[in-house]
Amino acid sequence: MQTLTVDLGERSYPIHIGSNLLGDSQLIAEHIQGQQVMVVTNETVAPLYLEKCLSMLTGFRTETVILPDGEQYKNLDVLNNIYDALLTHHFDRRCTLIALGGGVVGDMTGFAAASYQRGVNFIQIPTTLLSQVDSSVGGKTGVNHPLGKNMIGAFHQPQCVIADTDTLMTLDDRQLSAGIAEVIKYGFINDLEFIGWLETNMDKLLQRDSSALSYAIKVSCQDKADIVAADEKEAGQRALLNLGHTFGHAIETGMGYGEWLHGEAIASGMVLAAELSEQLGWIDAEVVNRVRTLVASANLPTTAPKEMSAQQFIDLMAVDKKVIDGKLRLVLMDALGSSVIAEGVDQKIIERVLNRSLEAAA
Ligand code: NAD
Ligand code: GLY
Repeated sequence: MQTLTVDLGERSYPIHIGSNLLGDSQLIAEHIQGQQVMVVTNETVAPLYLEKCLSMLTGFRTETVILPDGEQYKNLDVLNNIYDALLTHHFDRRCTLIALGGGVVGDMTGFAAASYQRGVNFIQIPTTLLSQVDSSVGGKTGVNHPLGKNMIGAFHQPQCVIADTDTLMTLDDRQLSAGIAEVIKYGFINDLEFIGWLETNMDKLLQRDSSALSYAIKVSCQDKADIVAADEKEAGQRALLNLGHTFGHAIETGMGYGEWLHGEAIASGMVLAAELSEQLGWIDAEVVNRVRTLVASANLPTTAPKEMSAQQFIDLMAVDKKVIDGKLRLVLMDALGSSVIAEGVDQKIIERVLNRSLEAAA
């Protein structure tokens, strides 16, 4: 097992990464303050891992909420199931919520924990690659609104993150690739060396080689932990973690939640960001090719969805969380392995890039 720390002073917490961690009661017990523990999971993950998770919690008073599975259920209505269970079982302020599942379960459980009785503790047990490398770390929690992805939420850090890499063996290939999109993202943000490693080791990741997966998770979590420690609430550089997300969230909302997986939308969004950066003269075609090739090597999309229009993108991107005073801010690339936050990019150039990508997809 390897342990990293998200350094946030008194609210610092460990990220444990390794095999056979689910079931290790010692890892979790020190992070639970009261007796009441609510495990939140979904109908796919429950039959696979709930029993093992509950075996970590003998001695506590545990209850379980099983949510429907899918991005389309990441909303306020379904969130109510968690509050209902907490209230029905008289959970008090010292209770702990446990998120057992992927990023949807993690974001919803985190938001329930942030808001129940104005804030209770929670623990992340991420079971997808995407949630192990990204969503379980950093304290962004929330749900979608029909008009915008992740628009309702709060920052609320977990007590600890337990990433058991064995759980990745039951993920389907499409979900594994979606997780690799967020892994690649860290390379493009600020880690050129990691890009080189990914170019050499992509096959191992796709074949679920456990040491390659552990290494990729460790580097990703370390890269994210560093950024979160420096800018917890996204006053500045944390926005870099949204590389590909302005385009990607538009894809998720525009296509209908769940049609394109989050990681697929981010993959397409990162290629669009590279293409836009090239149009602005910040990177050359060779860099764009390396971006596109790495994304494609993970079996991820490299164009926008042909069902969408440039205008639909523009409209949806106007409700991005990075918009300030009506001005769109985008994360773009100024070199391979280096991303920057850009403001005031000419809308005509964005439309041109989108139209080219849509033509390539058609
Ligand atoms: P997900 O939670 O929908 O999980 C993907 C699928 O895999 C689901 O069907 C799930 O039931 C299933 N699953 C989970 N674990 C499994 C396992 N071990 N074996 C087999 N199947 C398993 O999707 P995701 O990709 O984990 O997360 C995407 C969500 O995370 C999006 O809503 C996105 O907005 C959010 N996100 C949040 C942050 C953040 O910082 N909070 C960062 C990135 C993404
Ligand atoms: N996934 C973006 C962030 O955590 O800031």
